[in-house]
Amino acid sequence: MASSAQKQLPMLFLVYVLLLLIFMQEVPHPASPNSSPLMAVALSKSETRDEEVKALLKWKSKLDEESRSILSSWNGSDPCSWQGLGCGPLGSVIGLNLSSSALRGMLHDLDLSSLPNLVMLKLANNSLLGDIPSSIGNLSKLAYLDLSQNLLSGDIPTQLGSLRSLKVLDLSSNNITGSVPSSIGSLSNLTGLYLQNNNISKFIPREVGMLKSLNDLFLYSNHIGGRIPSSIGNMSSLMRLWLFNNDFIGSIPIEIGMLVSLSELDLSANYLNGSIPPTLGNLSNLAFLYFYENQLSGPIPKEVGGMKSLVHLQLLDNDLTCSIPSSIGNLSNLNILYLFQNKLSGPIPPEIGNLRSLSELSIYANNLTGSIPETIGKLGNLTLLFLFGNSIYGPIPPTIGNLSKLNELHLYQNKLSRSIPKEIGRLRLLVKPALYRNSLEGSLPIEFNNLTSLTSLQLSDNQFVGQSPRIYAVVKFLRTSLAQNNHFTGPIARSPEKLYELV
Ligand SMILES: *[C@@H]1O[C@H](CO)[C@@H](O)[C@H](O)[C@H]1NC(C)=O
Ligand SMILES: *[C@@H]1O[C@H](CO)[C@@H](O)[C@H](O)[C@H]1NC(C)=O
Ligand SMILES: *[C@@H]1O[C@H](CO)[C@@H](O)[C@H](O)[C@H]1NC(C)=O
Ligand SMILES: *[C@@H]1O[C@H](CO)[C@@H](O)[C@H](O)[C@H]1NC(C)=O
Ligand SMILES: *[C@@H]1O[C@H](CO)[C@@H](O)[C@H](O)[C@H]1NC(C)=O
Ligand SMILES: *[C@@H]1O[C@H](CO)[C@@H](O)[C@H](O)[C@H]1NC(C)=O
Ligand SMILES: *[C@@H]1O[C@H](CO)[C@@H](O)[C@H](O)[C@H]1NC(C)=O
Ligand SMILES: *[C@@H]1O[C@H](CO)[C@@H](O)[C@H](O)[C@H]1NC(C)=O
Ligand SMILES: *[C@@H]1O[C@H](CO)[C@@H](O)[C@H](O)[C@H]1NC(C)=O
Ligand SMILES: *[C@@H]1O[C@H](CO)[C@@H](O)[C@H](O)[C@H]1NC(C)=O
Ligand SMILES: *[C@@H]1O[C@H](CO)[C@@H](O)[C@H](O)[C@H]1NC(C)=O
Ligand SMILES: *[C@@H]1O[C@H](CO)[C@@H](O)[C@H](O)[C@H]1NC(C)=O
Repeated sequence: MASSAQKQLPMLFLVYVLLLLIFMQEVPHPASPNSSPLMAVALSKSETRDEEVKALLKWKSKLDEESRSILSSWNGSDPCSWQGLGCGPLGSVIGLNLSSSALRGMLHDLDLSSLPNLVMLKLANNSLLGDIPSSIGNLSKLAYLDLSQNLLSGDIPTQLGSLRSLKVLDLSSNNITGSVPSSIGSLSNLTGLYLQNNNISKFIPREVGMLKSLNDLFLYSNHIGGRIPSSIGNMSSLMRLWLFNNDFIGSIPIEIGMLVSLSELDLSANYLNGSIPPTLGNLSNLAFLYFYENQLSGPIPKEVGGMKSLVHLQLLDNDLTCSIPSSIGNLSNLNILYLFQNKLSGPIPPEIGNLRSLSELSIYANNLTGSIPETIGKLGNLTLLFLFGNSIYGPIPPTIGNLSKLNELHLYQNKLSRSIPKEIGRLRLLVKPALYRNSLEGSLPIEFNNLTSLTSLQLSDNQFVGQSPRIYAVVKFLRTSLAQNNHFTGPIARSPEKLYELV
């Protein structure tokens, strides 16, 4: 290449300089790191084109038969008219997009070094096999690289770190192994890094902290372990940090609290321990916080009240202790609050009634005490209320009748007492209320008749008196009713129709 180029040098030089002035962005690529600028100059437009055509046709010839017929337009010597190819003003190939084209073959049969002007390379959702070739590091102009949804294996080549123009790197949903190379820290213009759904292990290199332009860091569903590096706090543009379903250990770095642009933080299904850092309270743009299925301990810090944009707060399945902070009432946009399966104690704070947008409140299987606050009646959008498996005592507040959208009401296994308030008859959408194993007493309010959506009614192990539930009209809609271990009078009958169990 170099020798033939040298022969043509005098003739091409003037042309080159002119072109360089006009089309700075499309200069022919240096043949190798050692080649002099003059040799680079000499690599003519037509020669680059020949190289490109040769490399592309060679790749086509190595793909399977079906792929070759899909690429029937790849013929002749003008690649600019071929399917999936885009050319720059000088006629060299700058874009290759064959996503979702049902191609099958080896990626490394494509000689990437021959396509030096590529700005975009998208081959997502095909059946490309084999390694990602290290020659990919030669594509110095590449801004978009998407090889997601293929069958690629092997490691991420460290040479990717040479792609200084890269904005989006998507290798997700392949079978990539090895570690995230530390060279990734050189990609200072990267806005999206998508490596999820692979088989990546080891740990996150601290150099990721250098990715100051990064908005999305998706590493979920891999086998990445070690600690989450504290350098993550330096990724000042980060908006979505999705690390769930990995093997991370240690504590959540307090530096996450510096990521003020963060809107989605998902660290669930890992082995994280230690306590929730109070610095998270600084994340006023955070909308989705998922820490579930870890081993977090200690209290929910009162600072959570600072996360004013929070829509989902899911801390379930940890070892959190102490009481629910009343500051939680400041989260006025909260839609889902899942704190179940922890070791939380103390009463439910009355401030919970301020969460007017709440649709699901699930705090079952904790060690909560106190009574159900009357303010719960202010949660007019609540569809699900799971308080079971705690030590909550006192009456069911009549304000519960205001929860007109309530579907699911599970209050079983607590220490609730007194009668069921008649206001429960206003919960027209109630489906399967479960009140068993409490100390409820009195007779069932006749207003149960209004609950025409009921399919199941579970009242066993209480101290109810009066007529058994079979007398109520509503019984005809029930599929299950459990009412044993009470003091009901009258026979406990089985309905001939839908009712399978009425005891
Ligand atoms: C490719 O082009 C040549 C001529 O340029 C033609 O003879 C041949 O039939 C073409 N092949 C296909 C598969 O289109
Ligand atoms: C790439 O190709 C796919 C499938 O043909 C198409 O949906 C997508 O819009 C293309 N993307 C770009 C950036 O051209
Ligand atoms: C993947 O490509 C196939 C065609 O090969 C297409 O039918 C399918 O919709 C694509 N899937 C996605 C998620 O783009
Ligand atoms: C392309 O990359 C490979 C591997 O990194 C390297 O050995 C080779 O010199 C490069 N070729 C060109 C033409 O730059
Ligand atoms: C990074 O982005 C900036 C601003 O868009 C641009 O000026 C710069 O040239 C880019 N750097 C590289 C190496 O592409
Ligand atoms: C992924 O690669 C491993 C070897 O590294 C292999 O055993 C496994 O079958 C591959 N899985 C898929 C889905 O290709
Ligand atoms: C992940 O990689 C390991 C080797 O590193 C291999 O044994 C295992 O089968 C791979 N898992 C999958 C799901 O491909
Ligand atoms: C964050 O960046 C600053 C300067 O850019 C550096 O001094 C510091 O060590 C970095 N922090 C971490 C935890 O990497
Ligand atoms: C967290 O786990 C690490 C090991 O994974 C252990 O060394 C450390 O003591 C644990 N810390 C807490 C607070 O449990
Ligand atoms: C209650 O839900 C409705 C419909 O989903 C919604 O329009 C309304 O804004 C919600 N109310 C509050 C206080 O969030
Ligand atoms: C629940 O709290 C009670 C007293 O407040 C305590 O005796 C008990 O050990 C706690 N149970 C659990 C599982 O933490
Ligand atoms: C609820 O039931 C009671 C008694 O059966 C009845 O008098 C009342 O009209 C019902 N209320 C509504 C809102 O349907």
